[in-house]
Formats: sequence, structure tokens, C-alpha cells
Amino acid sequence: MVRRSPATFRIAPSLLSADFARLGEEVRAVAAAGADLVHFDVMDNHYVPNLTVGPLVCAGIRPHTTLPIDVHLMVRPVDRIVPDFARAGANIISFHPEASEHVDRTIALISENGCKAGLVFNPATPLSHLDHTLEKLDLVLLMSVNPGFGGQAFIESVLPKIAEVRKRIDATGRDIWLEVDGGIKADNIARVAAAGADTFVAGSAIFGSKDYAATIRDMRSRLGK
Ligand code: DX5
Ligand code: ZN
Repeated sequence: MVRRSPATFRIAPSLLSADFARLGEEVRAVAAAGADLVHFDVMDNHYVPNLTVGPLVCAGIRPHTTLPIDVHLMVRPVDRIVPDFARAGANIISFHPEASEHVDRTIALISENGCKAGLVFNPATPLSHLDHTLEKLDLVLLMSVNPGFGGQAFIESVLPKIAEVRKRIDATGRDIWLEVDGGIKADNIARVAAAGADTFVAGSAIFGSKDYAATIRDMRSRLGK
């Protein structure tokens, strides 16, 4: 099977590194700076050792942008909160297989609630979780850090895993997005793309920069488009 290069690249700034006292403004700023998605990290101090925001805050930022809101659930249990995020205006909802008792049921629940469904893999989570799920997914999210915090270093051993998922996605013939999350900066984004990713989460690299538009432009130029 010949690997197709992704037709479109998407940049998804993670609000985790935004100024939480000015979230609406920050969302508008990254949208104006050329973001394709808004990545929204939900942490519960249970599945991951940090606590962030829930559906109320998602609903709060919804009127500030027409960009898709890409909700990354790091919570256990998952199912009870899914309809709340759909009502709050989420467009994509992704979850970790370790956090759901019934992965197939959770994927169906997300789809039934009108959102795109994603499955998230920690650096040490085996890809066998894709065996009976890939055909039902809209997105696969590979973590290139252990989840819980922004600003961590990219874990290089995830690169071959990205390539493996690219092959599996291409074999389906479906347009399933391959997103990578953690430690992505302008200086490694091209390597992540070369491995097969098409959607790039970047928190500290964008919100930690002075000029969001310049940073996103720099990332796109390294992607060659
Ligand atoms: C980590 C979160 C990431 C995080 C990425 O658990 O899922 O989305 O915000 O932040 P950076 O880009 O700073 O590694
Ligand atoms: Zn995330």
C-alpha cells in the first residue's frame, strides 16, 4: 500500500495554554490568526492529574467562533458527559479507550449526538484498540506526551506509531483525520507531517508566542502549504 500524503493540514491551537481569564478573546485571536480548529482539553483530576474545564466553558466560547471545537476528553467515566458537550456546541469529541467501559458504545453515543468521534492513544496505549473501531471513527488522536499538562517535550518514539496509523487509515479508504497532540512546535511539525499526521495540536507553541498569526504562518510554511 502506497502512503498517500494528507491533502489538507489543520492547525488546532490548544486552549490549555491560553489566558483563561480572557478565553473568548483568545479564541477570536487564534481564529483571526488562521487556526483551523479550537482544541479544548477537558481534564478531571482522576483519569489525568489535572483539572480544567467542562461543558459550561465550552458553551461560553461557542458564540466566539465558527471554527469547529475539538473536545479532547481526559475524563473517566466518559459517557455521561458526552451529550452535555454536544449541547455545548462541540463538533468533535475524542476520548481515551482506557477511560470507557464500552468503547464501541461511546463511539456510537458521540455519533448519535451529532459530533465527529475520535479515539485517543497515549504514548504507551497499543494500536490494537483500532482493530474493531477504526471503521466507525472520524478521527484518531495520537498523544505525543503523556496527557495532563501543556508544555511537555515531544516523545520521538511516537513517530513510527503515526506512520502505522497512517497506513491503517489509508487502507480504509475513508477520510479519517490523524491528529497529533503534545510538544508540537514549528521546528518539529514537518517531521510529524512526514510521518503521516494531518492535524496538529499546539498549545504552548502558539499561546506562548507573542504573535499567534506569525507562529501559525511559520508552522504552515514548514508544512509546505
Ligand atoms: C495535554 C493536552 C494537550 C496540550 C498540548 O494533555 O492534551 O492538548 O495542551 O500542549 P503543548 O502543545 O504545549 O504540548
Ligand atoms: Zn489535547
